[in-house]
Amino acid sequence: MPDLSITVDGLRLPNPFIIGSGPPGTNANVIAKAFDEGWGAVIAKTISLDASKVINVAPRYARLRAESGDEVLGWENIELISDRPFDTWLTEFRQLKSRYPGRILIASVMEEYRREAWTEIIDRCQQAGVDAFELNFSCPHGLPERKMGSAMGQDPAILEEVCGWVNAASSIPVWAKLTPNITHIEDAARAALRAGCEGVSAINTILSVMSVNLDTLRPEPTVEGYTVPGGYSCKAIRPIALRMVMETATMMYGRAGPAARSGEFAGRSISAIGGIESGDDAAQFLLLGASTAQVCTGVMIHGYKLIHQLNASLLKFMEKHRFERIDDFRGKSLQYFTTHADLVRRQADAKAAEKAAASGMVTRDAAWTSDKFVEQSRGLIANE
Ligand SMILES: Cc1cc2nc3c(=O)[nH]c(=O)nc-3n(C[C@H](O)[C@H](O)[C@H](O)COP(=O)(O)O)c2cc1C
Repeated sequence: MPDLSITVDGLRLPNPFIIGSGPPGTNANVIAKAFDEGWGAVIAKTISLDASKVINVAPRYARLRAESGDEVLGWENIELISDRPFDTWLTEFRQLKSRYPGRILIASVMEEYRREAWTEIIDRCQQAGVDAFELNFSCPHGLPERKMGSAMGQDPAILEEVCGWVNAASSIPVWAKLTPNITHIEDAARAALRAGCEGVSAINTILSVMSVNLDTLRPEPTVEGYTVPGGYSCKAIRPIALRMVMETATMMYGRAGPAARSGEFAGRSISAIGGIESGDDAAQFLLLGASTAQVCTGVMIHGYKLIHQLNASLLKFMEKHRFERIDDFRGKSLQYFTTHADLVRRQADAKAAEKAAASGMVTRDAAWTSDKFVEQSRGLIANE
C-alpha cells in the first residue's frame, strides 16, 4: 500500500491533510476531534494578543448552491479571527500538546504592524508548545480596516519586514498564508521566503459579494440591512487556487518541479488550500508542487470524518499510478505549463506531421515500407 505520510519542514504528518484555519479549529474541543479522526495536522483559528477588539456579527455566512440539488459550490464569510482571549488559547495549546504529543498543532497568528506585538505572540505561543506558525496575511474583511490581514499581504515590502520580525523570534517552522486578492501572488511568496519563512500557504478567501436579494434589494449576508464584501471559499475557488499554487511553485521550484532541487527556493514548502473536498482535489495540488492540502469549508459541510474519504481516495490515485509516496509525484505536472506561443507552435508542428503522414510523405526512416517503397520515394521528390 502507498505511504501517505509526509515530512515537511521537519514536521512529520501521518497524511498530508490539514485542518485549515477557521471554524474547524476554533477551540481545543474541536481540535481534539480532528486529531481523533486522524487529520494530519491542525491549524488553529487565527489568534491575536487582544481578542476584545474582535467583534463578530450574525449572520456572517452566505452560500452559493448548484441550480439543481443541494450541492454547495461557494461559501462567503464575513467572520473575523478568534474572539477568544489569548491566555485561553495558550492554556488550550498546552493541553492539546500534552494530550497529543505526537500530533502537529500549528498556531495561526495575526497582529498589527508593531514588532513588539509580533514578537510577544510568537514567543508565548512557542512556549505553549505549538509545532509551527502560520502567519495570516490574508483575511480580506474587517481586519484590513485595522491594516492587518490582507492589508499586509498585499504589500510585499511590509510582508517581508513582518516575516523578518517573526523569523527572528521563532525557532520553529513558519508559513506565510498568502492572499489571492493580489495580481502576482508569487511576489508575496518571494517576500516571505526571502525573509526566512520555511513555507507559504495559498490561498485564503477571495473578496466577494455573494448576492443581492431581489425582494429586499439588500446584498447578502445582511446585518441590519447592510453588508461588507466577504471572503469566498469552497469548490468554486479551486481553479483559482490551483492557478496560484502553480504560479507560486513555478517561482519556487521552476517548471522541473521540486524533485530537481534547482529552483530559487528549492527546499521550501507550499501548503495548498482552496476548495479541497476529495483526495482527487488534493492530488491535483500536490501534482502542482504542494506538500500538504488544507481543508476548511469542506469540513464545515461534511464534518471531521471527511478525512477517511480523503485518505482513501488519495491512496486510490497513488495506487493507480504506482506512486509509493507523495514525493514520487509532487510537482510532476508543473512541466506541462508553457507559453501560449509555444502552444501555437506545438499545434502547428502536430498538424504538419499529420498532413505529412496522410500524404504518405516519409518524414522518419522508420516509416519506409517495402510494399510502398516506390511511391514513398516519389513522394519525396521536390520538382514533380
Ligand atoms: C468561516 C470561515 C472562517 C475563516 N477563518 C479564517 C481564519 O481565522 N484564519 C485564516 O487564516 N483563514 C480563515 N479562513 C480561510 C480558510 O482557512 C481558507 O483559506 C479558505 O476558506 C479557502 O479554503 P476552503 O475552500 O477549504 O475553505 C476562514 C474561512 C471560512 C469559510
